[in-house]
Amino acid sequence: MDSRPVGIFDSGFGGLTVVKAIADLMPAEDLVYFGDSARYPYGPKPREEVLRYSLEICDYLIDCFDVKMIVVACNTASAFALDTIVEKYSVPVVGMIEPGARSLVAAATSDRIGVIGTVGTISSGSYQEILQEIAPHLSVTCAATPGFVEFVERGELESDQLLVLAERLLRPIADGNVSSLLLGCTHYPFLARTISKVLGGGVTLISSAEETAFSVRQLLFDYSLESDSKVGGFRAITSGDVDDFRRIGRTLLGLDFSTVVSHRVDRKAE
Ligand code: DGL
Repeated sequence: MDSRPVGIFDSGFGGLTVVKAIADLMPAEDLVYFGDSARYPYGPKPREEVLRYSLEICDYLIDCFDVKMIVVACNTASAFALDTIVEKYSVPVVGMIEPGARSLVAAATSDRIGVIGTVGTISSGSYQEILQEIAPHLSVTCAATPGFVEFVERGELESDQLLVLAERLLRPIADGNVSSLLLGCTHYPFLARTISKVLGGGVTLISSAEETAFSVRQLLFDYSLESDSKVGGFRAITSGDVDDFRRIGRTLLGLDFSTVVSHRVDRKAE
């Protein structure tokens, strides 16, 4: 039993979809969330830069909050930094790629499946690799959807501009005739209405947030780290503007963001 917090991070608001799933499944856990809004999007950035930001955030969560586990609630950071994070820190670490691939395969209703994600995630080949390993019989169509994250960060979940962009970027998925599509970026569940408007009801959209929460619960159990307190908590830290984070976060998730605090980061790429 361990009442220390679970540390969760993302480039901005996306990881809140994972926070919600963890809070629903484990209401007694204390959650500390870091949204790196000052440096989003991670998707178009080089691997080294995303790795550096990720390690900086993990150091901060461990040094300042003594977190008992790290959840990399960002597919791009999972693709680029998970192995290094696992190696560097002594606390257990959960990423998005494995739970995402598992949920997608479990939900497949035909032999054609798809993944959308950031340019970084899709070009890293992480999903292609793991899906080839666990489900070589399935045909996978992957597409990068640059620009989606920016709409979510602005709190713009439905608009004509978003629809036009989605129609263009999702064409390979529509042409691939997939039956199930993994939303391989934690921001994308916020855009589910628009994505399903474009692809139609025949494509099942899969978010990996719930499966990731199950991995968190399993690992806390395996390491005897479950919380022994009666009620959990939620604190959020942003590297961006606190008022924006409160306002947009509350709109997106309805969680209480009154405790959001600021943490300054170095915005320079090098
Ligand atoms: N939410 C993140 C992901 O899952 C990163 C999005 C971004 O900042 O580009 O990939």
